[in-house]
Amino acid sequence: MTDLSRVKIAPSILSADFARLGEQVKAAEEAGADYIHFDVMDGIFVPNITMGPMVLEALSRVTKVPMDVHLMIEDPDRYLEDFAKAGATVIMVHFEAVKHLHRTVQRITALGCRAGVVLNPATPIIMLEEILPDLGRVLLMSVNPGFGGQSYIESTTNKIQRMRKMANLYNPQLEIEVDGGAKGNNIREIAEAGADVIVAGTAVFNDKETVGEAMAKLREALR
Ligand code: DX5
Ligand code: ZN
Repeated sequence: MTDLSRVKIAPSILSADFARLGEQVKAAEEAGADYIHFDVMDGIFVPNITMGPMVLEALSRVTKVPMDVHLMIEDPDRYLEDFAKAGATVIMVHFEAVKHLHRTVQRITALGCRAGVVLNPATPIIMLEEILPDLGRVLLMSVNPGFGGQSYIESTTNKIQRMRKMANLYNPQLEIEVDGGAKGNNIREIAEAGADVIVAGTAVFNDKETVGEAMAKLREALR
């Protein structure tokens, strides 16, 4: 079997215990998290509401792990500077939430962050053809955004494969990230399809095991 241990894991703190957020981030760091995935929801773009730049700033102070900021908010341009200042490494905006994507991407880059664009499950990858050379990251949603703990949408595997081919053509350095429903039993399939970074929420933060045990299981599945 191919060794896929180069694939990065980004624990999503959406499923962490919010009353112990700092501790949980430290636990993810100790377990070897490559990124901390930070889900921002505004109650408009998605039904749920989560956290903002103040929480990001507080967590940036307790960890050295790069912050992977996923903005599930309408008109994210309003907050790019705040998230950059609060310690974001990667800032990702939804294709479906932005009017002038080229301008938004240039702004993120000018703020010193890596620019990423997120596609909902029903949005075709061809929408990224023109912007791809300007991106550091594409995030493919493998669930409909808004909640942790949903099931992986199977057709995403084929979408990742096609995204990888398109990236090889337009931007070979591009990092492809996949978000939603990744578990020990499908993380290998997602990695083999061409994902460089895989988000894991409930697979890392749950009541059944420690963060360390959970991360070890995911790594094992990639070995
Ligand atoms: C969903 C979020 C995800 C979520 C993934 O809208 O963007 O990052 O935390 O959680 P799991 O891994 O449990 O599907
Ligand atoms: Zn996310």
